[in-house]
Amino acid sequence: QAMKLADYRQPDFLIPELYLEFELHETQTLVTAVSKVSRQGEHNQPLVLDGEKLELVQIQIDGHNVPAKDDDKGISIDNVPNEFELRVVTRIDPKNNTSLEGLYKSGQAFCTQCEAEGFRKITYFLDRPDVMAKYKVKITADKQAYPHLLSNGNKVDQGDLADGRHWVLWEDPFFKPCYLFALVAGDFDLLEDLFTTASGRQVALQLFVDKGNLGRAGHAMDSLKKAMLWDEQRYGLEYDLDIYMIVAVDFFNMGAMENKGLNVFNSKFVLADPASATDEDFFNIESVIAHEYFHNWTGNRITCRDWFQLSLKEGLTVFRDQQFSADMADPAIVRIKQVQVIREHQFAEDAGPMAHPIRPDEVMEMNNFYSVTVYDKGAEVIRMLHTLLGEEGFRRGMDLYVSRHDGQAVTCDDFVQAMQDANSTDLSLFRRWYSQSGTPTVKIQETYHEESGEYSIELSQYTAPTADQKDKLPLHLPIAIELIDGKGGQQQVLSLTRESESFNLGYFSQKPTLGVLAGFSAPVKITFSHDNEALLQIALNGQDDFLRWDACQQLLSEAIHQAAGQPGLGLPDILSKLFAGILLLAEQRPALVAEMLALPSFETLAQQRSQIDVDALLSARKQLKKQLAVAFQTPLKDLVTGALADTYRYEQEQVQSRRIKAVSLTYLAELADTEQLLQTAYQHSDNMSDTLAVLKACQEANHALFVPLMQEFEAHWSNDSLVMDKWFALHGSRQHRDSIATLELLSGHAMYSINNPNKVRALIGSFAFYNTAGFHAADGSGYRFVADYLLKLDAVNPQVASRLITPMLGFTHLDNARQDLIVKQLARLLNHKSLSRDLFEKVTKALHLA
Ligand code: ARG
Ligand code: ZN
Repeated sequence: QAMKLADYRQPDFLIPELYLEFELHETQTLVTAVSKVSRQGEHNQPLVLDGEKLELVQIQIDGHNVPAKDDDKGISIDNVPNEFELRVVTRIDPKNNTSLEGLYKSGQAFCTQCEAEGFRKITYFLDRPDVMAKYKVKITADKQAYPHLLSNGNKVDQGDLADGRHWVLWEDPFFKPCYLFALVAGDFDLLEDLFTTASGRQVALQLFVDKGNLGRAGHAMDSLKKAMLWDEQRYGLEYDLDIYMIVAVDFFNMGAMENKGLNVFNSKFVLADPASATDEDFFNIESVIAHEYFHNWTGNRITCRDWFQLSLKEGLTVFRDQQFSADMADPAIVRIKQVQVIREHQFAEDAGPMAHPIRPDEVMEMNNFYSVTVYDKGAEVIRMLHTLLGEEGFRRGMDLYVSRHDGQAVTCDDFVQAMQDANSTDLSLFRRWYSQSGTPTVKIQETYHEESGEYSIELSQYTAPTADQKDKLPLHLPIAIELIDGKGGQQQVLSLTRESESFNLGYFSQKPTLGVLAGFSAPVKITFSHDNEALLQIALNGQDDFLRWDACQQLLSEAIHQAAGQPGLGLPDILSKLFAGILLLAEQRPALVAEMLALPSFETLAQQRSQIDVDALLSARKQLKKQLAVAFQTPLKDLVTGALADTYRYEQEQVQSRRIKAVSLTYLAELADTEQLLQTAYQHSDNMSDTLAVLKACQEANHALFVPLMQEFEAHWSNDSLVMDKWFALHGSRQHRDSIATLELLSGHAMYSINNPNKVRALIGSFAFYNTAGFHAADGSGYRFVADYLLKLDAVNPQVASRLITPMLGFTHLDNARQDLIVKQLARLLNHKSLSRDLFEKVTKALHLA
C-alpha cells in the first residue's frame, strides 16, 4: 500500500490546459473540468485519473461519452487518442466534507485545500505535482450569500444572472500543479493596500476576513508588505501577478496554504490586535504570512516533481522565513525557539516509529509527512548549506537554482546541484542528509599540552539506527565552535566529514573553555562533559547567545535530574551563581535573560533520560523552581514592577520587557505571598500578552487564583473564538487530578466543536502534548481518553487525528508499565474497522517498534 520514491515514473499523459466551472451549492456543487490532454511518449497505457468521494455525472472524450472503470481511488479509460479534450462532470458535497480537504465549507464560506492530494476530491484528474496546467476558472453562486468569488490569477470577466446568482471568471497565466489551485466564495470584509515592486509594478493586496474583523487585519497586511520587500532585497525575487489575495478562515487543518495568488489562512495566523493576541501571535502571523509569500518562488514558480521532494519547497521556505524573522525580531531569541522545536519534536520523531529522512523513501499517506523532519530539519539542512557556502555563495546557488528551474517541477537533487555548480564545490557527501534519517551524536575529546600550550580536539560522529533504517553513514557536519580564554571568545566553523577527525586549534597559555555548536550549526546531539564552572563561564561570558542559553539549560537540567533522584536536595550553589550572574544582565539583554532564566520543559527533560519517572521529574522541576523563586524573589519582583508600561505596541523593546516579566511571574507564582502581585498584574493588563502571562504562571504553579481568573477571562471573552482557544489550551494543559473530567466537560462547551481543528488542538492537543501528569497518569486514564477521542475524531477529520496521536508514538523513553499501557491503546485503535490510512500508517509503525 506504500508508495516508494524509487518507483517514480514520468506521467503517461500531460494536461497543459484546464478549464474549470463550479456551480456552488452547499451539498450538491457541480464541477465541470475540461482538460486538454496529450500522451507523453510511445505507449498504450490507459488514462488513469485520481478521484475520491466523487459522484461522476458525465465523462466525455472529444464530445463523446466514454466507458470508464471506476473504483474508490479513481477511474481508468482505455484506448484514448494521443491528443484529446477530456470533459468530466462531478457532483460533490462541500457541507458534509469534514476532512477539510478538497472543497469544503468553513462557517458560511466555501474554500479549498488541495495540497497534497485534495484536488482529487474535486474532480477526476492527474493529481500529481509534475502535471502542470494553465487554469481558467468560472465560479457561479448566489450573489447575496457569496458576493466574493475568488480563484487564482487575474479576474478577467464577471456577470449577473437572472436568478440572483452571479459569476466570475479567473485566469492564471502561470503553469501550476493542481495542489496550488484554490477557490473561495463568501461574504467578507476586505482590507486593501498596494505594493510597488522593485521594477515598478503595482500589486493590489487584498485581505479577506470575516465580517467585523477588519480591526484585526492590519498586522497581517503590514507583515505581507515587509515580506515582499525583504524577498526583493535579500534574494532579488519579485512578485509576479497584479493581485495577491489572502483569505482567513476558521476551519483549517494546518497553518496556511500558498495557493497561487490566493493564499488561504487559518484565521489564527491572520487576526490580531493588542487586546486579543499575544506577542507570540504577532510574531507567528508575521512569520506564516512571510512563509506563504516566499513560496511563490520556492514552491510555486519552482515546484516539486513528486511528494517525496516536499522538503525541496518546505525546508527551503522555512529557512527563508527563519532568516526573515531573524531580521524582524531578536535573532538570538528566534534561533533559540527554532532549536527548541528541533530538540523537543524533531529529535523525538527521529527516535520514534515515524523516523524518516527529510526526503522520505516510502509513504503510505502523504499528509503524514508534513512533519517537523521535512519542514524543520529540512530547514536545518538548508542552513548548513548556507553555513558551508557563506551568504554570498548561498545566494549564487539560489540565483542559479531559480534561473535554471523556473517553471519546472524538480527534485531536491536539482537544488543541491545548483548550489554545487554555482560554487564549484563538491556536495556529494552533503547529499546524505537527504537520504539518511536519525540524529547524529557528536562526541568531543579535548587535549591540552601544558608545556607547548597546544590545544586540539577530536570530533567523532555516530548515528544510531532508526525505525526505518538500520545502517548509517558519516555525514558532512559544520561544527561551529567558540573558544573562550582570557581575551574573550573567538569563533570558527570546523567541517567534520569523516567518522572522526582531529583539529588543532592553536596555542594557549591556559586551557581555553570550549563551546560547541555555536548557533546550533548542525541538528545533532553533543556529548561533551563540561564541568559546571566551564558551563557557568560560557553562560555568563560567552559570545554566542545560543551557547549561553544552552549552557544555562544544561546546568538547570542537570540540577533537576539530580533532584529527581534525591528529593529534598537544596538549591545547588552553581545555580545561585548562575542566576545572580544572569540577573545582572537583565537591563542590557532582557530578551536573552528571559530565555536563560526559563526552566527546561518537561518534554526536554524527559528526552535526556530513558526509563524516566514522570512524577519524580515533575516534582523535581517544581521544587527547583520554588527554590530559585525563594532565593531570588527580590530581583524577580523588581523585574515585574520595573517592566515598561507604555501603551501596547508590537515592537521589540516592549516584547522583551513583557517576556522577562512573564518569566519572572512563573517563579513568583510559586511563593505564598505573591497573590496581590498576580492580581494586580492581571487587573492592570491592557493586552493579551500580559494577561496570559499571569494565567500561565498561575496554572503552572497550581495557584489558587487560577480558577477565579479563568472564570473572569471566560466571562469577558466567551464570544471570541480565537481567544477562547487560549482558554481551552490553559485548561487542557493544566496538571491536576481531574484532568479527564475537565476535558469531558469542556468538550461540551458552547464554543467547542470536534469539527474545528483549532478547538481540538487547543483542548485535546494541549492535554496530550503538554499535560504531562494527566496524559501519563499511572493508571493509564490519559492514554485511554486520547485513544477514545481519536476514534471519534478519525471519522471526522483523519488529518487532525493523525497529528494528535504524536504523543502516543514516542514512548520508548518511558518506564515499562507506561509503555505497556500505551501499546494496549494502540492495539485497540488498530482493531477499529474503519481506521483512516493516516492513523493506520502511524499505529502499525508504532506497534512494530513495541
Ligand atoms: N504548504 C503548506 C505550507 O507549508 C502546508 C500544506 C499542508 N497540507 C497538508 N495537507 N498537510 O505552508
Ligand atoms: Zn510551506
